[in-house]
Amino acid sequence: MDNAHRTNVTNILVIGSGGAGLRAAIAAHQAGSEVVIVGKRMRKDAHTVLAAGGINAALGTVDPQDSWQQHFADTLHEGYFLSDPHTVEILTREAPQAVLELAEWGCEFDRTPDGALNQRFFGAHKYRRTCFAADYTGRAIIDTLAQKVEELRIPIREHQYVSRLLVHEGVCFGAMAFDIHSGERTVYYADAVILAAGGHNRIWRRSSSRRDENTGDGMYLALQAGCAVADMELVQFHPTGMVYPEDMAGVLVTEAVRGEGGRLFNALGERFMSRYDPQRMELSTRDRVALANYTEIIEGRGGPHGGVFLDISHREKSFILQKIPRMYRQFMETQMLDISRQAMEVAPTAHYSMGGVVVEPETHATEIQGLYAAGEVTCGVHGANRLGGNSLAEILVFGRRAGQAAARFSSGISAQLRSHSLVKAAHEELDSLIQPGDELARPLQRALRDTMWETCGVVRDETRMQQGLQRIAELEEAARSVDVRPDAEGYRDLAIALDLRGSLLAAKASLLGALARRESRGAHQRSDYPALDENLQANITERLDESGRLVVGQHPVSPVPSELAAWMQDQEELALQGRLLE
Ligand code: FUM
Repeated sequence: MDNAHRTNVTNILVIGSGGAGLRAAIAAHQAGSEVVIVGKRMRKDAHTVLAAGGINAALGTVDPQDSWQQHFADTLHEGYFLSDPHTVEILTREAPQAVLELAEWGCEFDRTPDGALNQRFFGAHKYRRTCFAADYTGRAIIDTLAQKVEELRIPIREHQYVSRLLVHEGVCFGAMAFDIHSGERTVYYADAVILAAGGHNRIWRRSSSRRDENTGDGMYLALQAGCAVADMELVQFHPTGMVYPEDMAGVLVTEAVRGEGGRLFNALGERFMSRYDPQRMELSTRDRVALANYTEIIEGRGGPHGGVFLDISHREKSFILQKIPRMYRQFMETQMLDISRQAMEVAPTAHYSMGGVVVEPETHATEIQGLYAAGEVTCGVHGANRLGGNSLAEILVFGRRAGQAAARFSSGISAQLRSHSLVKAAHEELDSLIQPGDELARPLQRALRDTMWETCGVVRDETRMQQGLQRIAELEEAARSVDVRPDAEGYRDLAIALDLRGSLLAAKASLLGALARRESRGAHQRSDYPALDENLQANITERLDESGRLVVGQHPVSPVPSELAAWMQDQEELALQGRLLE
């Protein structure tokens, strides 16, 4: 190839057109920067649209006793004290303003009869603080942000696959990307780059992410650029994913069903949550409900499709259609099942990456100068178990902060760096992947997803995880001879091969983190280490060494600020019960 590419020069490059990326772009633009957004999918079709049940903000509209401090405490408890307290403080203090701003921009949140923003219960919240737009909250948020981006005339370039961040001597100056349809390459030169490329939960067999999203490619880009990642083993299994038909297995059944009164039953008709958390029942913490569902299923009390039953049929049909219309439609369209009459069959599904790129709390700057990150690709907020509804709050609060910080960085630099030899290397990397080969990427992706489900799933142990690493080594070998050639489908093969490359690294990082975390805590349950280990109140970090191997370390979690410590006490006992249930 002749290294042909288009060149795009801008102040800020945002990688990812989901909620975090759009919010970051708006903030950077409003701070005076020129911004370009690139995304793998079409605009308004990022993973954020799948977020269903709501966004947290301690507005106190329904429960006036609520406060950001209580939201802070609930988040830290739910995360089993692995969240960064400073990051959580920022999130919980700023979420109300972020949600009100979005409402001002036209987001159609549900309202109380007197016009205030309505709030529903989500699991493990002390008060009702989850704002919502029926069960289409993510869709409503993306539509609002995209509208704002359009008003501000910020360009979004669709179908752009970023293969490499360009980093010279510890400074990021842009990225190499290609068009998934035409293959045309673009080198984006930027003063600062914001990575908002999502997580890695699609690498598990049952996942609430769609094909080709959340494949771990964002984490791969950051690791290759020299960043550290942390908590990669901490992947949240949402308790309720669909179990059939096969192509719908894993698709989210929103927590809003339980928030609006849904009850869980096993095949014996027992409302089994009374055995696992008699106080909070179905609104227990996500890890507990997921583990309860898993336990009922593997102990043989599941239904015909390998799930348990989630029932909201005691509610009026009109109530169901008002509060959870997407769920009504989803089951009707795919199973011909009327959820106002019959229970849904559900099982745990990999839902959210709580770990990711290590960032500084205030600005979300990474360790690489000029590189920022926001949203699911990062770590810091969620610890070992995410409080439902916090991810949408996170993308708004930290998207805005990352955008502002990147704009400040851009206005402070005197010259834009370029390195032609790095651009050449990025071309050569892409060229080397376009080759005939004996393997296809899709079956290897499937094998990887099966491997992660079987060896690093809801309950883990050393023997199976070592088998997982061994299997990944074999898949890495096979991935070297993946067949990639442009055809009528364009350069999709190349994108899939690159996704596979990212997924393999993210999977290895998850397994190494899970092996290093010799305890059970939140979403990370080990049958060989069933107790929580207080000495492991630390984040497991990983980075690539010069030979490209992942090196594992540990970083203690910062203490809770003294003025917030009093908020932590009342539920301490409960939250520390991280251990695997007998
Ligand atoms: O169940 C849900 O609607 C998911 C919400 C979340 O993950 O925050």
